[in-house]
Amino acid sequence: MTTQRDQAQDLREAMVRQLQDWGDLRSDSIAEALRTVPRHLFAPGESLEDVYAANQAVVTKRDEQGLATSSLSATHIQVTMLEQAQLQPGMRVLEVGSGGYNAALLAELVGEAGTVVSLDIDGDIVERARSCLQTAGYERVRVVHGDAEHGHAPEAPYDRIIVTAGAWDIPPAWIEQLAPGGRIVVPLRMRGLTRSVVFAHDGDHLVSTGYRLCGFVPMQGASAREERLIPLDGSEVALRVEEEQLLDVTGLQKSLQQPRLERWPDVEFSYPDETHFWIATQAPVFGLLAARQDAIERGLVTRSAQRGVPTLIRGASFAYRTKRPLEDGDTFENGVYAHGPEAEAVAEDYVELLRRFDRDLRGGPGAQIEVFPATRPTSELPRGRVIEKKHTRVVVSWPGAREL
Ligand SMILES: C[S@@+](CC[C@H](N)C(=O)[O-])C[C@H]1O[C@@H](n2cnc3c(N)ncnc32)[C@H](O)[C@@H]1O
Repeated sequence: MTTQRDQAQDLREAMVRQLQDWGDLRSDSIAEALRTVPRHLFAPGESLEDVYAANQAVVTKRDEQGLATSSLSATHIQVTMLEQAQLQPGMRVLEVGSGGYNAALLAELVGEAGTVVSLDIDGDIVERARSCLQTAGYERVRVVHGDAEHGHAPEAPYDRIIVTAGAWDIPPAWIEQLAPGGRIVVPLRMRGLTRSVVFAHDGDHLVSTGYRLCGFVPMQGASAREERLIPLDGSEVALRVEEEQLLDVTGLQKSLQQPRLERWPDVEFSYPDETHFWIATQAPVFGLLAARQDAIERGLVTRSAQRGVPTLIRGASFAYRTKRPLEDGDTFENGVYAHGPEAEAVAEDYVELLRRFDRDLRGGPGAQIEVFPATRPTSELPRGRVIEKKHTRVVVSWPGAREL
Protein backbone atom coordinates (compact mmCIF):
# COMPACT_ATOMS: atom_id res chain seq x y z
CA MET A 1 0.00 0.00 0.00
CA THR A 2 1.35 3.46 -0.93
CA THR A 3 1.28 5.83 2.02
CA GLN A 4 1.05 9.63 1.83
CA ARG A 5 4.68 9.67 2.93
CA ASP A 6 5.80 7.47 0.02
CA GLN A 7 3.74 9.57 -2.37
CA ALA A 8 5.31 12.81 -1.09
CA GLN A 9 8.76 11.27 -1.45
CA ASP A 10 8.02 10.23 -5.05
CA LEU A 11 6.70 13.69 -5.86
CA ARG A 12 9.80 15.29 -4.33
CA GLU A 13 12.01 13.11 -6.48
CA ALA A 14 9.98 14.03 -9.58
CA MET A 15 10.24 17.72 -8.65
CA VAL A 16 14.03 17.42 -8.35
CA ARG A 17 14.25 15.79 -11.79
CA GLN A 18 12.01 18.47 -13.30
CA LEU A 19 14.16 21.27 -11.86
CA GLN A 20 17.29 19.56 -13.14
CA ASP A 21 15.74 19.17 -16.62
CA TRP A 22 14.86 22.87 -16.70
CA GLY A 23 18.46 23.70 -15.78
CA ASP A 24 17.44 25.61 -12.63
CA LEU A 25 18.92 23.00 -10.29
CA ARG A 26 22.61 22.22 -10.70
CA SER A 27 24.07 21.60 -7.21
CA ASP A 28 23.97 18.22 -5.54
CA SER A 29 23.67 19.83 -2.11
CA ILE A 30 20.50 21.72 -3.13
CA ALA A 31 19.03 18.57 -4.74
CA GLU A 32 19.68 16.71 -1.48
CA ALA A 33 18.00 19.48 0.56
CA LEU A 34 14.94 19.34 -1.75
CA ARG A 35 14.72 15.56 -1.29
CA THR A 36 15.00 15.90 2.48
CA VAL A 37 12.63 18.75 3.43
CA PRO A 38 8.94 17.71 3.38
CA ARG A 39 7.49 20.76 1.58
CA HIS A 40 3.91 19.57 2.21
CA LEU A 41 4.36 20.13 5.95
CA PHE A 42 4.64 23.86 5.16
CA ALA A 43 1.37 23.91 3.19
CA PRO A 44 -1.12 21.94 5.28
CA GLY A 45 -4.47 21.42 3.55
CA GLU A 46 -3.05 21.72 0.01
CA SER A 47 -2.97 18.76 -2.37
CA LEU A 48 0.42 17.03 -2.64
CA GLU A 49 0.37 17.55 -6.43
CA ASP A 50 0.01 21.33 -6.01
CA VAL A 51 2.64 21.53 -3.28
CA TYR A 52 5.21 19.62 -5.34
CA ALA A 53 4.51 21.28 -8.71
CA ALA A 54 7.92 22.88 -9.34
CA ASN A 55 6.55 26.06 -10.89
CA GLN A 56 3.66 26.70 -8.50
CA ALA A 57 3.56 29.01 -5.48
CA VAL A 58 1.18 28.22 -2.62
CA VAL A 59 -0.55 31.39 -1.44
CA THR A 60 -0.75 31.51 2.36
CA LYS A 61 -2.27 34.98 2.86
CA ARG A 62 -4.19 37.58 0.84
CA ASP A 63 -5.14 41.21 1.54
CA GLU A 64 -8.71 42.63 1.45
CA GLN A 65 -8.48 43.02 -2.35
CA GLY A 66 -7.56 39.37 -2.72
CA LEU A 67 -3.92 40.07 -3.67
CA ALA A 68 -1.37 37.61 -2.32
CA THR A 69 0.77 39.07 0.48
CA SER A 70 2.50 35.83 1.44
CA SER A 71 3.17 32.51 -0.21
CA LEU A 72 5.47 29.55 -0.29
CA SER A 73 7.34 30.61 -3.40
CA ALA A 74 7.48 28.24 -6.35
CA THR A 75 10.41 25.85 -5.92
CA HIS A 76 11.96 26.84 -9.23
CA ILE A 77 12.40 30.41 -7.94
CA GLN A 78 13.68 29.22 -4.57
CA VAL A 79 16.19 26.95 -6.28
CA THR A 80 17.31 29.74 -8.61
CA MET A 81 18.04 31.95 -5.60
CA LEU A 82 19.71 29.16 -3.62
CA GLU A 83 22.00 28.47 -6.59
CA GLN A 84 22.75 32.20 -6.77
CA ALA A 85 23.55 32.30 -3.03
CA GLN A 86 26.25 29.57 -3.16
CA LEU A 87 25.68 28.52 0.44
CA GLN A 88 28.28 26.57 2.38
CA PRO A 89 28.07 24.65 5.66
CA GLY A 90 28.62 26.88 8.68
CA MET A 91 27.31 30.10 7.07
CA ARG A 92 25.11 32.59 8.88
CA VAL A 93 22.03 33.47 6.83
CA LEU A 94 19.26 36.05 7.15
CA GLU A 95 16.14 35.24 5.15
CA VAL A 96 13.85 38.24 4.63
CA GLY A 97 10.24 37.03 4.21
CA SER A 98 9.22 33.79 5.90
CA GLY A 99 7.21 30.78 4.93
CA GLY A 100 9.25 28.15 6.71
CA TYR A 101 10.03 25.94 3.73
CA ASN A 102 12.86 27.99 2.23
CA ALA A 103 14.29 28.50 5.72
CA ALA A 104 14.33 24.70 6.18
CA LEU A 105 16.20 24.33 2.87
CA LEU A 106 18.66 26.96 4.09
CA ALA A 107 19.08 25.06 7.37
CA GLU A 108 19.91 21.88 5.42
CA LEU A 109 22.48 23.77 3.33
CA VAL A 110 24.30 25.53 6.16
CA GLY A 111 24.06 22.49 8.44
CA GLU A 112 24.18 22.31 12.24
CA ALA A 113 27.21 24.61 12.36
CA GLY A 114 25.36 27.35 10.46
CA THR A 115 22.63 29.78 11.54
CA VAL A 116 19.35 30.65 9.84
CA VAL A 117 17.29 33.66 10.92
CA SER A 118 14.01 34.22 9.08
CA LEU A 119 12.36 37.64 9.34
CA ASP A 120 8.76 38.56 8.52
CA ILE A 121 6.67 41.70 9.01
CA ASP A 122 3.44 39.77 9.41
CA GLY A 123 2.81 38.28 12.88
CA ASP A 124 0.49 35.59 11.45
CA ILE A 125 3.17 34.44 9.02
CA VAL A 126 5.77 34.37 11.81
CA GLU A 127 3.50 32.13 13.91
CA ARG A 128 2.67 29.94 10.94
CA ALA A 129 6.32 29.54 9.90
CA ARG A 130 7.38 28.72 13.49
CA SER A 131 4.71 26.07 13.83
CA CYS A 132 5.46 24.43 10.44
CA LEU A 133 9.21 24.44 11.13
CA GLN A 134 8.58 22.74 14.47
CA THR A 135 6.37 20.07 12.89
CA ALA A 136 9.06 19.40 10.27
CA GLY A 137 11.82 19.25 12.92
CA TYR A 138 13.63 22.52 12.14
CA GLU A 139 13.38 24.24 15.54
CA ARG A 140 16.92 25.55 15.07
CA VAL A 141 15.65 28.12 12.52
CA ARG A 142 14.91 31.37 14.37
CA VAL A 143 11.79 33.11 13.02
CA VAL A 144 11.65 36.78 14.07
CA HIS A 145 9.00 39.46 13.69
CA GLY A 146 10.14 42.76 12.18
CA ASP A 147 10.42 45.01 9.15
CA ALA A 148 13.04 44.23 6.49
CA GLU A 149 13.96 47.90 6.52
CA HIS A 150 15.92 47.31 9.74
CA GLY A 151 17.22 43.81 9.01
CA HIS A 152 17.90 41.92 12.23
CA ALA A 153 20.93 43.36 14.02
CA PRO A 154 21.11 41.05 17.08
CA GLU A 155 22.37 38.11 15.04
CA ALA A 156 24.40 40.01 12.44
CA PRO A 157 26.74 39.85 10.64
CA TYR A 158 25.39 37.48 7.97
CA ASP A 159 27.33 35.73 5.23
CA ARG A 160 24.18 35.74 3.12
CA ILE A 161 21.04 37.88 3.14
CA ILE A 162 18.36 36.27 0.98
CA VAL A 163 15.34 38.45 0.32
CA THR A 164 12.13 36.68 -0.65
CA ALA A 165 9.80 39.66 -1.19
CA GLY A 166 9.98 42.10 -4.11
CA ALA A 167 12.27 44.99 -3.05
CA TRP A 168 12.43 48.45 -4.57
CA ASP A 169 15.52 49.57 -2.67
CA ILE A 170 18.42 48.23 -0.58
CA PRO A 171 18.03 49.52 3.00
CA PRO A 172 21.34 50.54 4.65
CA ALA A 173 20.73 47.94 7.40
CA TRP A 174 21.31 45.08 4.93
CA ILE A 175 24.68 46.44 3.92
CA GLU A 176 25.66 47.15 7.54
CA GLN A 177 24.65 43.63 8.61
CA LEU A 178 26.50 41.87 5.79
CA ALA A 179 29.76 40.14 6.78
CA PRO A 180 32.94 40.98 4.84
CA GLY A 181 32.86 38.90 1.64
CA GLY A 182 29.11 38.36 2.11
CA ARG A 183 26.43 38.32 -0.58
CA ILE A 184 22.89 39.72 -0.82
CA VAL A 185 20.43 37.92 -3.10
CA VAL A 186 17.45 40.17 -3.70
CA PRO A 187 14.54 40.45 -6.14
CA LEU A 188 15.13 44.12 -7.00
CA ARG A 189 12.64 46.19 -9.00
CA MET A 190 14.31 48.54 -11.46
CA ARG A 191 12.08 50.69 -13.68
CA GLY A 192 9.22 48.24 -13.08
CA LEU A 193 11.21 45.09 -13.94
CA THR A 194 12.24 42.68 -11.18
CA ARG A 195 15.45 40.66 -11.32
CA SER A 196 16.88 38.44 -8.58
CA VAL A 197 20.30 40.05 -8.27
CA VAL A 198 23.35 38.72 -6.37
CA PHE A 199 25.34 41.58 -4.87
CA ALA A 200 28.83 41.50 -3.41
CA HIS A 201 30.73 44.28 -1.61
CA ASP A 202 33.13 46.22 -3.78
CA GLY A 203 34.80 48.73 -1.46
CA ASP A 204 32.13 51.23 -0.52
CA HIS A 205 29.39 49.97 -2.80
CA LEU A 206 27.64 46.81 -4.00
CA VAL A 207 28.22 45.25 -7.39
CA SER A 208 26.20 42.50 -9.06
CA THR A 209 27.77 39.15 -9.84
CA GLY A 210 24.69 37.93 -11.75
CA TYR A 211 20.91 38.20 -12.00
CA ARG A 212 17.90 36.13 -13.04
CA LEU A 213 14.29 36.86 -13.94
CA CYS A 214 11.84 36.38 -11.06
CA GLY A 215 8.56 37.56 -9.55
CA PHE A 216 7.61 38.02 -5.91
CA VAL A 217 4.89 39.41 -3.66
CA PRO A 218 5.69 43.08 -2.97
CA MET A 219 7.63 44.31 0.06
CA GLN A 220 5.41 45.89 2.72
CA GLY A 221 6.31 48.24 5.57
CA ALA A 222 8.78 51.12 5.46
CA SER A 223 10.36 49.85 2.21
CA ALA A 224 7.06 49.48 0.32
CA ARG A 225 6.90 51.44 -2.91
CA GLU A 226 4.01 51.36 -5.36
CA GLU A 227 4.24 52.09 -9.06
CA ARG A 228 2.29 55.05 -10.48
CA LEU A 229 -0.44 54.11 -12.95
CA ILE A 230 -1.06 56.70 -15.69
CA PRO A 231 -4.37 55.85 -17.39
CA LEU A 232 -4.25 56.19 -21.19
CA ASP A 233 -7.67 54.75 -22.01
CA GLY A 234 -10.04 54.60 -19.03
CA SER A 235 -8.98 51.65 -16.90
CA GLU A 236 -8.15 49.56 -19.98
CA VAL A 237 -4.69 50.86 -20.89
CA ALA A 238 -2.15 52.44 -18.56
CA LEU A 239 1.50 53.34 -18.32
CA ARG A 240 3.20 51.96 -15.21
CA VAL A 241 5.97 54.32 -14.17
CA GLU A 242 8.27 54.32 -11.15
CA GLU A 243 10.21 57.52 -11.26
CA GLU A 244 9.07 61.08 -10.89
CA GLN A 245 8.80 62.09 -14.55
CA LEU A 246 6.91 65.01 -16.02
CA LEU A 247 4.59 63.40 -18.56
CA ASP A 248 2.21 64.97 -21.07
CA VAL A 249 -0.63 62.69 -19.98
CA THR A 250 -3.36 64.37 -22.06
CA GLY A 251 -1.11 64.31 -25.13
CA LEU A 252 -0.28 60.63 -24.62
CA GLN A 253 -3.97 59.78 -24.19
CA LYS A 254 -4.83 61.55 -27.46
CA SER A 255 -1.93 59.89 -29.29
CA LEU A 256 -3.11 56.40 -28.35
CA GLN A 257 -6.37 57.07 -30.22
CA GLN A 258 -4.45 58.07 -33.40
CA PRO A 259 -3.39 55.51 -36.03
CA ARG A 260 -0.11 53.84 -35.21
CA LEU A 261 3.14 53.66 -37.11
CA GLU A 262 4.78 50.24 -37.57
CA ARG A 263 8.44 49.37 -37.96
CA TRP A 264 9.84 45.86 -38.63
CA PRO A 265 13.63 46.17 -38.33
CA ASP A 266 14.43 42.53 -39.18
CA VAL A 267 15.56 41.63 -35.66
CA GLU A 268 14.72 38.19 -34.33
CA PHE A 269 12.56 38.00 -31.20
CA SER A 270 14.58 36.09 -28.59
CA TYR A 271 15.83 36.71 -25.06
CA PRO A 272 12.76 38.91 -24.47
CA ASP A 273 13.44 39.41 -20.74
CA GLU A 274 16.96 40.60 -21.38
CA THR A 275 15.83 42.80 -24.30
CA HIS A 276 13.27 44.38 -21.98
CA PHE A 277 15.84 45.05 -19.27
CA TRP A 278 18.18 46.62 -21.84
CA ILE A 279 15.47 48.90 -23.22
CA ALA A 280 14.22 49.83 -19.75
CA THR A 281 17.70 50.91 -18.74
CA GLN A 282 18.42 52.96 -21.87
CA ALA A 283 15.38 55.19 -22.31
CA PRO A 284 15.59 58.60 -20.64
CA VAL A 285 11.78 58.65 -20.15
CA PHE A 286 10.30 55.24 -19.66
CA GLY A 287 7.21 53.29 -18.62
CA LEU A 288 5.61 49.89 -19.02
CA LEU A 289 2.52 49.94 -21.22
CA ALA A 290 -0.07 47.58 -19.75
CA ALA A 291 -3.46 46.71 -21.20
CA ARG A 292 -6.48 44.67 -20.22
CA GLN A 293 -7.83 41.96 -22.49
CA ASP A 294 -10.66 44.15 -23.90
CA ALA A 295 -8.24 46.78 -25.22
CA ILE A 296 -6.10 44.04 -26.80
CA GLU A 297 -9.11 42.39 -28.41
CA ARG A 298 -10.37 45.62 -29.94
CA GLY A 299 -6.89 46.18 -31.40
CA LEU A 300 -6.04 49.36 -29.49
CA VAL A 301 -2.75 47.83 -28.28
CA THR A 302 -1.08 44.48 -28.94
CA ARG A 303 -0.84 41.36 -26.83
CA SER A 304 2.73 42.26 -25.88
CA ALA A 305 1.20 44.78 -23.44
CA GLN A 306 -0.62 42.07 -21.50
CA ARG A 307 1.90 42.02 -18.65
CA GLY A 308 3.57 45.36 -19.29
CA VAL A 309 5.86 46.09 -22.24
CA PRO A 310 8.82 48.52 -22.22
CA THR A 311 7.75 51.83 -23.72
CA LEU A 312 9.85 54.81 -24.77
CA ILE A 313 8.14 58.14 -24.18
CA ARG A 314 8.93 61.41 -25.88
CA GLY A 315 6.52 64.29 -25.16
CA ALA A 316 3.07 63.18 -26.36
CA SER A 317 4.54 60.29 -28.36
CA PHE A 318 5.47 56.77 -27.37
CA ALA A 319 6.73 53.50 -28.87
CA TYR A 320 6.57 49.93 -27.67
CA ARG A 321 7.65 46.46 -28.82
CA THR A 322 5.49 43.90 -30.57
CA LYS A 323 6.27 40.69 -32.48
CA ARG A 324 5.01 38.57 -35.40
CA PRO A 325 5.77 35.01 -36.51
CA LEU A 326 8.31 34.40 -39.24
CA GLU A 327 7.56 32.09 -42.14
CA ASP A 328 8.94 28.98 -40.41
CA GLY A 329 6.17 29.38 -37.81
CA ASP A 330 8.58 28.64 -34.93
CA THR A 331 10.41 31.92 -34.60
CA PHE A 332 9.27 35.52 -34.30
CA GLU A 333 10.59 38.91 -35.25
CA ASN A 334 10.49 42.08 -33.22
CA GLY A 335 8.45 45.04 -34.34
CA VAL A 336 7.79 48.52 -32.99
CA TYR A 337 4.45 50.34 -32.78
CA ALA A 338 4.49 54.08 -32.20
CA HIS A 339 1.85 56.75 -31.69
CA GLY A 340 1.88 60.54 -31.57
CA PRO A 341 3.31 63.58 -33.34
CA GLU A 342 6.90 62.32 -32.91
CA ALA A 343 6.07 58.68 -33.66
CA GLU A 344 8.77 58.44 -36.38
CA ALA A 345 11.54 59.63 -34.09
CA VAL A 346 10.57 57.57 -31.05
CA ALA A 347 10.06 54.44 -33.21
CA GLU A 348 13.54 55.02 -34.67
CA ASP A 349 15.04 55.20 -31.16
CA TYR A 350 13.36 51.92 -30.29
CA VAL A 351 14.56 50.24 -33.49
CA GLU A 352 18.09 51.37 -32.77
CA LEU A 353 17.95 49.83 -29.30
CA LEU A 354 16.65 46.53 -30.72
CA ARG A 355 19.46 46.50 -33.30
CA ARG A 356 22.13 47.24 -30.71
CA PHE A 357 20.85 44.45 -28.49
CA ASP A 358 20.89 42.10 -31.47
CA ARG A 359 24.41 43.09 -32.48
CA ASP A 360 26.18 43.37 -29.10
CA LEU A 361 24.23 41.77 -26.30
CA ARG A 362 22.16 38.76 -27.43
CA GLY A 363 23.26 35.75 -25.32
CA GLY A 364 26.01 37.80 -23.65
CA PRO A 365 26.83 38.29 -19.97
CA GLY A 366 24.24 41.04 -19.58
CA ALA A 367 24.14 44.11 -17.38
CA GLN A 368 26.21 45.18 -14.42
CA ILE A 369 24.18 46.59 -11.55
CA GLU A 370 25.87 48.72 -8.89
CA VAL A 371 24.39 50.22 -5.74
CA PHE A 372 25.77 53.44 -4.24
CA PRO A 373 24.60 55.50 -1.27
CA ALA A 374 22.00 58.14 -2.23
CA THR A 375 24.51 60.84 -1.26
CA ARG A 376 27.04 59.85 -3.96
CA PRO A 377 27.38 62.73 -6.47
CA THR A 378 26.74 61.94 -10.13
CA SER A 379 30.30 62.93 -11.03
CA GLU A 380 31.54 59.98 -8.92
CA LEU A 381 29.21 57.38 -10.44
CA PRO A 382 30.21 55.04 -13.26
CA ARG A 383 28.60 55.52 -16.68
CA GLY A 384 25.16 53.98 -17.03
CA ARG A 385 21.49 54.52 -16.30
CA VAL A 386 21.12 55.98 -12.83
CA ILE A 387 17.94 54.83 -11.09
CA GLU A 388 17.13 56.94 -8.04
CA LYS A 389 15.89 55.15 -4.93
CA LYS A 390 15.26 56.35 -1.38
CA HIS A 391 18.50 55.11 0.18
CA THR A 392 20.57 54.37 -2.88
CA ARG A 393 21.45 55.27 -6.47
CA VAL A 394 21.40 52.17 -8.65
CA VAL A 395 23.54 52.31 -11.79
CA VAL A 396 22.88 49.82 -14.59
CA SER A 397 25.51 49.56 -17.32
CA TRP A 398 26.01 47.14 -20.22
CA PRO A 399 29.73 46.44 -20.67
CA GLY A 400 29.13 44.61 -24.00
CA ALA A 401 27.25 47.47 -25.70
CA ARG A 402 28.99 49.62 -28.32
CA GLU A 403 27.50 52.71 -29.91
CA LEU A 404 25.60 52.03 -33.14
C1 LIG B 1 6.93 35.10 -0.85
S1 LIG B 1 6.74 35.22 0.86
C2 LIG B 1 8.17 34.42 1.52
C3 LIG B 1 8.33 33.02 1.07
C4 LIG B 1 9.22 32.19 1.93
N1 LIG B 1 10.59 32.66 1.97
C5 LIG B 1 9.18 30.72 1.53
O1 LIG B 1 9.64 29.91 2.33
O2 LIG B 1 8.73 30.39 0.43
C6 LIG B 1 7.11 36.92 1.18
C7 LIG B 1 7.02 37.30 2.63
O3 LIG B 1 7.63 38.57 2.79
C8 LIG B 1 7.00 39.20 3.88
N2 LIG B 1 7.31 40.64 3.86
C9 LIG B 1 6.81 41.60 3.05
N3 LIG B 1 7.32 42.80 3.38
C10 LIG B 1 8.16 42.59 4.42
C11 LIG B 1 8.99 43.44 5.20
N4 LIG B 1 9.04 44.77 4.99
N5 LIG B 1 9.73 42.90 6.18
C12 LIG B 1 9.70 41.55 6.42
N6 LIG B 1 8.92 40.70 5.71
C13 LIG B 1 8.17 41.21 4.72
C14 LIG B 1 5.53 38.88 3.66
O4 LIG B 1 4.79 39.01 4.88
C15 LIG B 1 5.61 37.44 3.15
O5 LIG B 1 5.38 36.52 4.17
